[in-house]
Amino acid sequence: MAQEKSAGLAGVIAGHTGISTVGKEGVGLTYRGYSIEDLAEQACFEEVAFLLLRDRLPSQQELDDYKAQLRPLRALPDDLKVILERLPADAHPMDVMRTGCSALGSLEPEGRGRDASAIAHRLVACFGSILLYWHRFHARGDRLETGTDDESTAGHFLYLLHGKKPDELSRRALDVALILYAEHEFNASTFTARTIASTLPDFYSAVTGAIGALRGPLHGGANEAAMEFIQRFASPDEAERGVMELVAQKQLVMGFGHRVYRVSDPRSGIIKRWSKRLAEASGDTRLYPISERIEQVMWREKKLFPNLDFYSATAFHLCGIPTAMFTPLFVVSRITGWAAHIMEQRADNRLIRPSADYVGPAPRPFVPIFQRRA
Ligand code: COA
Repeated sequence: MAQEKSAGLAGVIAGHTGISTVGKEGVGLTYRGYSIEDLAEQACFEEVAFLLLRDRLPSQQELDDYKAQLRPLRALPDDLKVILERLPADAHPMDVMRTGCSALGSLEPEGRGRDASAIAHRLVACFGSILLYWHRFHARGDRLETGTDDESTAGHFLYLLHGKKPDELSRRALDVALILYAEHEFNASTFTARTIASTLPDFYSAVTGAIGALRGPLHGGANEAAMEFIQRFASPDEAERGVMELVAQKQLVMGFGHRVYRVSDPRSGIIKRWSKRLAEASGDTRLYPISERIEQVMWREKKLFPNLDFYSATAFHLCGIPTAMFTPLFVVSRITGWAAHIMEQRADNRLIRPSADYVGPAPRPFVPIFQRRA
């Protein structure tokens, strides 16, 4: 059989999925057959979580029940709170997410009456609590009660972060961002989750590994890097000069380009509109115009378009979310996609184990240590 090689597995079909399509002709992104535009316009995050995890849209009653099911799952066990308190105040929040997930895997292990679906719902409900318990303890010395009455994941997150009920514009903007981030086929972190799941370990191991893969700036970490870049500039003209410098040095501008999409990212226009609305509502006259100029220059110079991470950065910032929490928010959302993929992998498992193109030395004789030259 002919052996195909592909750097970074680009273009390789590494398995089948019924969860989402990315970049298929005519439709940019679908979750279980529904377009991302329709979902972002008309659904809420919990509806999308239900869709991804149970393979169909819920009825109104089922959605209400699902939200009610998630609410008590936001509370954290005391032992996990102690672990979060012991983590350094200056830890990266993604390290907190990774450790929190792994610790929960010991405190509430899979099996013993707890199946994959129960763990998926638990993690959807409590990832925000893990991050914000740690944050509030170290920032203000609070031992936060992480259960809230807010029925949405986005509202719960903003409530815990700011200590008050969020305004509806910010809540819905974050809700839409969570929908956009929920699922994206065989991206690096999801493929990591599936690779781990294919060796048949517990559910948490696959999610913990996925969080590690998401942390890097070429994947989930791009939204933080994009914000840091945007904030460097005082005006659009200054930003244009900054982009031209990076282009001249052939450096990456974070939040641009994509492995699969070649013309545009179907999620970018949606989050851009929310970013604009938030900028108008908050009276921002700096970050949004700077972002637009960066977008224009990147297209003019490199024919590169913003991906979801670019305008998510300004949207999150305008919701008052600290930059270091951008990638953890990605986790709060993407756990739905990861969980769906882990379950799909388990349902028809084959160990994921590709082959390598060997580029090392040819076979050679072993030299005993006493005969080796220094
Ligand atoms: N800024 C500047 N140049 C970029 C770029 C960016 N964000 N993204 C791609 N390019 C350049 C590459 O350097 C390459 O240039 P070359 O042909 O001169 O070497 C060319 O565009 C083609 O890139 P490509 O090979 O198609 O990218 P990829 O598929 O290997 O990587 C990403 C895809 C997403 C990793 C890449 O676009 C990137 O690093 N983007 C920034 C990080 C980011 O936003 N990640 C989030 C993704 S959702």
